[in-house]
Amino acid sequence: MVQTLQPVEILGCGSYVPEKVLTNQDLLAFMDTSDEWIVERTGIRQRHIAREDQALSDLAIPASLQAIAHAGIPASEIDLIIVGTSTPDMLMPATSALIQHAVGASRAAVFDMEAACTGFVQAFIVAQQFLMTGMYRTALVVGGDLLSKFTNFTDRGTGMLFGDGAGAVVIRAGGENAVLSNLMGADGSRSDLITIPIGSRVPPSGERAENGGHHVTMKGKEVYKFAVEKVPPSITEAARLAGLELDQIDHFVLHQANARIIEAVAKRLGVSMDKMIVNIDMRANTSAGTVPIALAEAVHSGRIKAGDKVCMVGFGSGLTWAASIVRWTAGPKTQED
Ligand SMILES: CC(C)(COP(=O)(O)OP(=O)(O)OC[C@H]1O[C@@H](n2cnc3c(N)ncnc32)[C@H](O)[C@@H]1OP(=O)(O)O)[C@@H](O)C(=O)NCCC(=O)NCCS
Repeated sequence: MVQTLQPVEILGCGSYVPEKVLTNQDLLAFMDTSDEWIVERTGIRQRHIAREDQALSDLAIPASLQAIAHAGIPASEIDLIIVGTSTPDMLMPATSALIQHAVGASRAAVFDMEAACTGFVQAFIVAQQFLMTGMYRTALVVGGDLLSKFTNFTDRGTGMLFGDGAGAVVIRAGGENAVLSNLMGADGSRSDLITIPIGSRVPPSGERAENGGHHVTMKGKEVYKFAVEKVPPSITEAARLAGLELDQIDHFVLHQANARIIEAVAKRLGVSMDKMIVNIDMRANTSAGTVPIALAEAVHSGRIKAGDKVCMVGFGSGLTWAASIVRWTAGPKTQED
């Protein structure tokens, strides 16, 4: 049976970061560092940190509600919810189930995907497949992480990098096609470069966990090199698959890992920094949250408009990477959003 693939359009987006702000200056209480060093080496000035009693769903639910309101559809029309995260509320149930109940998407199928900082872009690509094949019509795709509970704030190699937050988009089969190209990749031989080692190998009650085994570990220099080498060819290939020259892309929404990585990628590609969406100064690295938060903030501030071509790129632990080029199809923000 030959089946025609459905177009996929983007209906809306949203984001949420917790209220509490931790500045570089605040970090000096825990870490031997300076505001100047962090700004110069990472571009980060502050990060938003969840309260002790907050979990990922507390950030993902408001982001999802904003995306659903922006989409202008009732939550009951959502058939599928996928959450990209490495820091779910619990190991089970999936955080997507908690979101389903909270937003009132009672008929949606749900699952979580774990691809660290690549999580949102991968979940976005996976959700599209269900819509293209006609299995589902409307999907809510969420990306977010709450890394502050897994960060050692005294560690100079990781403690200044991470923040908490979540973003979401609503996509629907039919209408004007938004998806121009997708690609995903992985190099599992370098899975040791960024880890949160807790899991079935190091259970939460184990001795290592009590001694900080639940904290992010990272070989920063190698991760930096990976990003600067892998992201530019991924963008070039995604553009080729979309049939676009790089100068036809209006905005690049890269994972916000380090401002220097974004600048190095722009330089290698010969793309102006004006086209790079950067919010790492205020939001830091929220892992799977960076791309949908930067996207939603740029859309709701009017920077990204309907018709613009947007290249989203996630990369991180795994190692994994994913790129998706879309023609933005959602309308402007409404009063109720
Ligand atoms: C983590 C990172 C910012 C470190 O920057 P770097 O330039 O590699 O720093 P180095 O480890 O080489 O250290 C350089 C110097 O700064 C010092 N330093 C390191 N961390 C510091 C900190 N937080 N504050 C102040 N000084 C620091 C080091 O001691 C070293 O000093 P020395 O030259 O006197 O020995 C950088 O490697 C990075 O951003 N990597 C990628 C991280 C990333 O993207 N992660 C997420 C991927 S999803």
